[in-house]
Formats: sequence, structure tokens, C-alpha cells
Amino acid sequence: MGWFISCGFVLVLLYSVSVWYQYRCRRQIDLPAIGYEGLWSSYWTAFRCVRHAKSLFNEGYLRVNKNGLFKIPLWDRWFVVAAGDKYLSDIKAASDTVLSMMDGAMELLKGEYTLGPQFISNQYHLAIFRTMLSKDLNTLLPELLDEVFHATLELFPEQGHEWNLVCVHDALRALSVRVSSRILVGLPLCRNKEYHRTNVQFAHSVMFGASLISFFPRPLQSIVGKLYHRFSTTRHRNNILKHVSKAIEDRRLELEQLEPNESKPNELISWLLDLAPPGLERETASIAFRILLTNFSANHATSGALISAVYCLAAEPRYIKELRDEIESILGSGIEYDTWNLKAIDRCEKLDSFLKESIRLHGVGAFSVLRKALTHFRFSDGTVLPPGTIISACGTNIHLDEDNYPDAHTFDGLRFYKLRQQEPSATRKHTLASGDDHFLAFGIGKSMCPGRFFASMVMKCNFINLILNYDFDLEEGTGEPVDEWLGPISLPSSKAKILVRRRVPA
Ligand code: HEM
Repeated sequence: MGWFISCGFVLVLLYSVSVWYQYRCRRQIDLPAIGYEGLWSSYWTAFRCVRHAKSLFNEGYLRVNKNGLFKIPLWDRWFVVAAGDKYLSDIKAASDTVLSMMDGAMELLKGEYTLGPQFISNQYHLAIFRTMLSKDLNTLLPELLDEVFHATLELFPEQGHEWNLVCVHDALRALSVRVSSRILVGLPLCRNKEYHRTNVQFAHSVMFGASLISFFPRPLQSIVGKLYHRFSTTRHRNNILKHVSKAIEDRRLELEQLEPNESKPNELISWLLDLAPPGLERETASIAFRILLTNFSANHATSGALISAVYCLAAEPRYIKELRDEIESILGSGIEYDTWNLKAIDRCEKLDSFLKESIRLHGVGAFSVLRKALTHFRFSDGTVLPPGTIISACGTNIHLDEDNYPDAHTFDGLRFYKLRQQEPSATRKHTLASGDDHFLAFGIGKSMCPGRFFASMVMKCNFINLILNYDFDLEEGTGEPVDEWLGPISLPSSKAKILVRRRVPA
């Protein structure tokens, strides 16, 4: 018993000394603080951030009059937030050897432990997003559409024309993930429920692990992180290997036997086998984990955006006819699927605007444009941040600012369509996959999301197919599904029920 108490005492002492040490490091940032700044009281603000990040960021945004820098305490660090175009321009102008997006993300996700050192020291797979998943998307369209139609029929089974009150969250998430997976890993894996479950469990494990490790003061994080890596991350690596090792081996063989004049398969495993540097990275287990990482980047936001768009449509069913008319005048009535191509889909400008407006209101969390300072970073107003500081812009506040968007809190499905009509010369400026200082869902500058064109194609194909075949509405007396907030991340409601019926022929 005495031994037990002594151990407990040593652990509490170690924890307290680590917190004090961390506190000393944190004091170096001289900016207005939101919440408490004290040694222990700042923990209270960090705790409040778990449930009330949106209002804390809003408090900061107003405190600096929408133009300045403020800081919010997280468990293990200060989080610096920039508001105002001038500060955003400074971040955008910095090279990624000074402000790094990937280092920022890895720091918050505790990537060294939740993903593993091998995968943060070499990010070769990012080249795939910038090349294969951005160019020539037309060549991916036939496969993608095949999965859209197949998965929709399976996940949204044929119903009569009467209304049903349904929780569509899981079906829509599965639909989006399956369609992306058809391109990423092909048949039959994209339809394997266990494979999808492994991906979801991994994503949860990364988020949970990151929160758990951050809860400990930094001097203790490497101990907790290494334990987490050993017991959780490794288990997920083994699980994914079970599902994909055969597909990787088959593809490896196929590529080896390919005649020089034959074209290579157009999917993720082949791209990875093509790009992986020699040695450890070419091993099946490493390729398998890269697949897990790709799904982690690709699936969550894309499926969330589709769910939010369907909720917006249910809340504003008056748009259904307008969108259908546009789609049918460009793509046909929904039976002539061979008329679908990306150029034609791009001409559906009202649809593009509707999706972008839904992302504006629901698709960005409390922050966006996350960066880590790798050296001292000086803003143009002279403020200097020390190396290691995490910086971001306030996402939701910028998207909901009346100065940026008139009537900013109101959903206007044609907002960006109207802007495009007003500025016909700026053809790409207001499209879904574009971004600027006031639309931060895909980030800004050189690190802007390289998967956004792919995500936009997946969202549009799914959404068009749903609009052509289903009606959506809200049950009388219920309001639009409310987003769920998990720390600074906003997610579409996972429990809301909306009315769905098979489209009634005109
Ligand atoms: C609606 C869907 C998506 C949203 C809202 C989204 C959002 C973002 C954001 C905000 C960033 C950070 C950019 C910055 O800070 O400047 C980012 C980066 C990234 N996204 Fe996406 N993303 C989406 C879909 C995808 C998809 C489908 C993929 C892959 C297939 C992907 C892969 C990536 C990668 C690899 C990065 C890191 C880029 C780098 O380090 O340079 N994303 N995304």
C-alpha cells in the first residue's frame, strides 16, 4: 500500500512539474488570450474548448475587431488565431519551410504516435493527390458513376412514392466512402464492409489518440504516445493489411507482367507502387498503411459535405425543382448516363453554388489554414511568433461574417451562382473547388487541399443522382438538422431524421 501511495505521489509530482514546465514555455507568446491564462485555470479554458470552441473563437474574433491575433489555450499549448485579410495574406505568403501545413496537422494529430514516424518523415503519397487525383478526372468518371448508381440502390433501397422519416447520416456517409473507394481501391474491396469499418476505426483512433496524448504535458507525451502507437496504431496497421495485402500483391504481379505498350491500372494501389521509393516503403505493409492514410484524408470531409448538402436540400426543398431543371437540361433525364462528363457536370452552375453554400455554412470548423511555424515568423504588423507555434485562421467566423457575405447566416443556394453571373469574366473564382480569403473550407495558398477536385466530383455525382431520384423534406415542426461540434471540428448531425421518398414522376 505504501509503495502504491509513493508511486501515485511520484506520478502526480511528475505531472505537475511537467505542467509547470510546459506553462513556462507557453508564456512566450504575448497576445490577447481568450479565456484564462493561469497555470491551472488555462486548463479550464482548454476544457471548455472541447464543447464550446465555436463561441471561444467568436469571442476572440470580436475581441480583436475581426483584425488581429489572439491565442486560445489548448491542453498542451497556445493556439494562435489570425483574423483579418492582412494576417491571412502574411500566412499565405510564407513558404512552407517557414509555416508548414503538414507539420501543423501532424502536431495536432500527434502524428508521430497516431500514424507513426515512418509516415510523417516521408509524405511521398501526397504527390498522388496533386497529380493523379487532380488531372484526368474524366477517365475516372465511368467507374465512379457505376459505383454511384450501384451503391445508391443498395444503400437507399427502392421505396414507394410515399414519404419515409429516415436517419440518412450513415447511408450517405457509406455512399460517399464507397464511391471514393471505388476509385481508390477498386472492386471488390470498395464494397467490403469490414474494410470500411477498419478505416472508420482508424480515423477514430487517430482522433482519440491525439486528444489523449495532448492531455498530457509535453514532457510526458512521448511516453504516452509510444504506448499508444504500440497498442493501438500497430493494431490498425495489421487490420488493414489483412484486407488489402492480396490486392496489393495481385497488382504488383499485374504491373510486373505488363507489356510496355499496355497502360497501367488507374487506381491508388498502382499509383503507390509506382511512386514508392525503394526499400521499406515498397513493402506490402507500408503500401497498405498509405491506403489507410489516403482514406483518412479523403473520406471524412467529403462524406460530411454530402450529408450537409442533403440536409440543406431537405430544409429548403424549393431548390429541388430548380436544380433538377438545370441538371436535366444539361445531363438529360437521368437515364442517359452516358451524357455525363465533367465538362457537362461543371456547367451545372446552380448545383455547384448550392454545394459551395452548404460547405460555407457547415463545412469548415472553428479554424482553417492550420500551420506550424518552423522558424521565427514575423507578421507584417511586426508581431513575431516563436518556432513551434501553431497558427490558424478562424474558419467559421470568416464564413459567417456579414462583411464577407451579405445575410451571412442565411442559406442562399444560389449565392455563388449569382456572383458568377455578376462576374462572368472570373469564370473559376466562385466555383466549388476554388477558395479565397473568405472561403477557407479547402484552405489557401500552396497547401490548399489537393483532393478538392476529386472531392467535388464525388460530391456532385452523388448529389445529382440523389436529386434526380429522390425528394427530400423536413417533418413538419422540425428545424434544419443542427451541426454537432467536437472541439473545433463541426460535423453534420448524426441523428437527425429527414423525410425521403422516391421521386414522384411529373
Ligand atoms: C469536401 C472535402 C474536403 C475538404 C473540405 C478538405 C479540406 C482540406 C483543408 C482545409 C486542407 C488544408 C489546406 C490548408 O490549410 O491550406 C486540406 C489538405 C489536404 N487534403 Fe483535403 N479536403 C477535402 C477532401 C480531400 C480529399 C478527397 C483528399 C484526397 C483524396 C484530400 C487530401 C488532402 C491532403 C493530402 C491535404 C494536405 C495537403 C498538403 O500537405 O499540401 N482532401 N484539405
